Amino acid sequence: MVHPGVWLILSSSFVLSHAAAALIDAAKIPPGAVSIPPLSFAVLGQNATFRQNGFVQQFNPTNTTPPFFQIFHSDFLDILGPKATVRTIAVNNTFASGFAFEAPFFNAPTNEIFFASSVFVPESSFTHSNRISKINMTLVEKALAANVANINIPFETLSLPETVQITNGATGPFEGSFVLATRGRGNLPSALVLLNPNAPNNATVLLDNFFGRQFDSMNDLKIHPSGNIFFTDDSLGFISDQKPAPLLPSQVYMFDPESGLVRMVADNFVIPNGIAFSPDGKIAYIGDSAGVTNQTLPSTVYAYDVDSKTFAFNNRRVFVYIDSGGPDGIQVDSKGNVYVASGDGVQIFRKDGVLLGKIFIGSNVANMAFAGDGKLIVLANTRIFLAQIDAKSGLTTQ
Ligand SMILES: *[C@@H]1O[C@H](CO)[C@@H](O)[C@H](O)[C@H]1NC(C)=O
Ligand SMILES: *[C@@H]1O[C@H](CO)[C@@H](O)[C@H](O)[C@H]1NC(C)=O
Ligand SMILES: *[C@@H]1O[C@H](CO)[C@@H](O)[C@H](O)[C@H]1NC(C)=O
Ligand SMILES: *[C@@H]1O[C@H](CO)[C@@H](O)[C@H](O)[C@H]1NC(C)=O
Ligand SMILES: *[C@@H]1O[C@H](CO)[C@@H](O)[C@H](O)[C@H]1NC(C)=O
Repeated sequence: MVHPGVWLILSSSFVLSHAAAALIDAAKIPPGAVSIPPLSFAVLGQNATFRQNGFVQQFNPTNTTPPFFQIFHSDFLDILGPKATVRTIAVNNTFASGFAFEAPFFNAPTNEIFFASSVFVPESSFTHSNRISKINMTLVEKALAANVANINIPFETLSLPETVQITNGATGPFEGSFVLATRGRGNLPSALVLLNPNAPNNATVLLDNFFGRQFDSMNDLKIHPSGNIFFTDDSLGFISDQKPAPLLPSQVYMFDPESGLVRMVADNFVIPNGIAFSPDGKIAYIGDSAGVTNQTLPSTVYAYDVDSKTFAFNNRRVFVYIDSGGPDGIQVDSKGNVYVASGDGVQIFRKDGVLLGKIFIGSNVANMAFAGDGKLIVLANTRIFLAQIDAKSGLTTQ
């Protein structure tokens, strides 16, 4: 089936050259995955149909029905393993703009995955927050074991305190709870909030101001191995008609929950979005999804060296530019490979920035999270996918 908006190469010049194909051992390609050596599309020809819009049209040269894996480099086979699969585990089109949009977190003690619904109108607005729901992964595992053809596990929506307003990011665990980056709403401040994953799902606000000034819209966060919490703050709440005009630049901050120290660690962004650290905490990754406003602006993930004493982000350099959509949530696996949520799915990069492959969903993915070893949960707004691959989380807090 050809999905609306999925772009196809119409040129007859699309032929896998023998030399390029030989780089990837066909015997190791999992069923359903597609090898696309970069040399096979380096030249499309004068008469080819080129993509006009990197946010609407996707790169699916084999016209394969999503979801599936695109392999651009043989090293992707080590991440996939020989039996990799990707499949839907939950679907719901009722929430007008998405029940499973952002802020995934895995609570290992109960084997549950949590996620927030869309942060856009009408699901989130000036007058009401989005929702956080959860799925029992044990039910997913039972359905897989029973070979259920179309898995659709019901989700349960939490009843949350008023201090949780428009959740856009989540990470943890942190002292048995999870930390949320909340956008705030109207005059209610954007805040870092600790949420108890167990009933009664009580919450404690950790930070809601910068020396008396409100943050604009906290977007995403991670806990560094040092225990400090780092978060991005952007103007999307204002752009989405949920917040007053920004009063601070869009930038990245560090918060030390023990001392209360808060400081800015990186600036010079349009829309600072996803954030992640290498497993050793020495490298920070920040995505700028400026391209969502105009595709000629950056859709770029930058890398930094994290100062081991001051935690300042130094030596900014380009890590990768995303070919589809803007970079959203970022996760790092235990080997340091970098997973970037993108306009077509999850794009997976080696730590030197080479695109190894994609979990091609065929629609926008805002974030993903490991739900135990070998299980990556991918949030695609109206659908949740499970990718079973040979990788595990690089988060030191898990
Ligand atoms: C492109 O199309 C034109 C007009 O149909 C044709 O003359 C030309 O040979 C084509 N070029 C290639 C490289 O196929
Ligand atoms: C979708 O979610 C809504 C709200 O929770 C629920 O009422 C509805 O039954 C769900 N639909 C399906 C098909 O699960
Ligand atoms: C998840 O489902 C399993 C199997 O039905 C059940 O035993 C377990 O109690 C459920 N977990 C939660 C947190 O409800
Ligand atoms: C939830 O309430 C319990 C009992 O008062 C408390 O120990 C815990 O710290 C609270 N958790 C959060 C995240 O507020
Ligand atoms: C995007 O930016 C380019 C370069 O500044 C400009 O020419 C173009 O008009 C902009 N497009 C839109 C839709 O604003």
